[in-house]
Amino acid sequence: MTASDTKGLFYGLQTFRQLITSQNNTLVIPFVEIADSPKFLWRALMLDEGRYFKGKEEVKKLLDEMARLKMNTFHWHLTDDQGWRIEIKKYPLLTKIGGKRDSTQIGNWNSNIYDGKVHEGFYTQEEIKEIIDYAAKRQITIVPEIEMPGHASAAIAAYPQLGTEKQSIKVPTRFGVQYHAYNVADPKVIQFIKDVLDEVCNLFPSETIHIGGDEVKYDQWKKSAQVRNFMKEQNIKTPADLQIWFTNTISHYLENQKKHMMGWNEITGVKIHDYTDFEDAASGASLAEGTIVHFWRGDPSLIKQTVKKGYQVVNSYHEYTYLDYDTAYTSLEKAYHFDPLAGIIGKETDLIIGIGAQMWGEWIPTPSDMYRKLYPRIAAFAECGWTSPSNKSWKRFNQAAYKENLRWKQLYQ
Ligand code: ACM
Repeated sequence: MTASDTKGLFYGLQTFRQLITSQNNTLVIPFVEIADSPKFLWRALMLDEGRYFKGKEEVKKLLDEMARLKMNTFHWHLTDDQGWRIEIKKYPLLTKIGGKRDSTQIGNWNSNIYDGKVHEGFYTQEEIKEIIDYAAKRQITIVPEIEMPGHASAAIAAYPQLGTEKQSIKVPTRFGVQYHAYNVADPKVIQFIKDVLDEVCNLFPSETIHIGGDEVKYDQWKKSAQVRNFMKEQNIKTPADLQIWFTNTISHYLENQKKHMMGWNEITGVKIHDYTDFEDAASGASLAEGTIVHFWRGDPSLIKQTVKKGYQVVNSYHEYTYLDYDTAYTSLEKAYHFDPLAGIIGKETDLIIGIGAQMWGEWIPTPSDMYRKLYPRIAAFAECGWTSPSNKSWKRFNQAAYKENLRWKQLYQ
């Protein structure tokens, strides 16, 4: 086996392992010649632990499976409204208070049933280093996501001065997008965010840091005199423009730390608000060079606009790549037929660097719930990331996934 680097050798070994079959108690290896390389640079799985903390043993198992499937990016969604899961030494209450909630909505988005149980958990920085090392040995980079300026209720529960109302709140027990957002008009809040990002940048060797940037409700900003005055002073016209001013600012801050910012497609300033109608920020985005736009809600026409502006894109179009969606809606076959380049032609395809599959956490309280959603669909996304569309075959894949799924059932049921 020859490869141009260690990564290549590692992937060659995965292919070799996949070729081994057992016939009459004998291991059989076909005599074949294979020249292979990945279609995309970015082949990611996202795990949301903001909603439910799974813990390091579960994360390691996922990393093992990703490595077998030649996925190379673990996108770790570590903070959200319902939980803060990463130790930040300068702000210990983030995990002490923000890492714990009293109860949890169960069932579905409309449910009024709560489990009445405390849910808590977070990773120390030492544990995170251990997991980064475990991933690196499997050729996987860990990209942390620290959500801002929305999805921030757990942080505001820990430090009420981070919000506009300065009032004590509880870590939410209900899912869905919350009312609270960071008060980005307050320089002390901006400093807090920079302090957190400094610790995150020091901890994670990844060149890319994900800041979320999605789903901000504007009511709280609209009500705040401090926010309104700040907008007037800075000539910021609308809350959507304020959101974009903020994500632009953070992209340049991270650039100064020699990191690339990544954020959900709201950071483009186009179609950023979906509670009533989609809304655009008139001011537009001026993101630091190297910023990666992570498409979830954006349809392919929006991707086209973004690559035309020269930004790199990871395509996680929710219609195909959201693992929380029911398998009746996003079947294995639908997932397999996802084409991150759909509708993009010519040089602009170079800017689409890959694909991410998202394991959102709201309705997977236990690891078994997670396994049912993940397996075998994860294999479809891995192949969308690795294999050129011209080499894909649903029939071949379906047979291989069936076989691999027997193993997953044995391991994880
Ligand atoms: C998202 O699903 N809000 C990125």
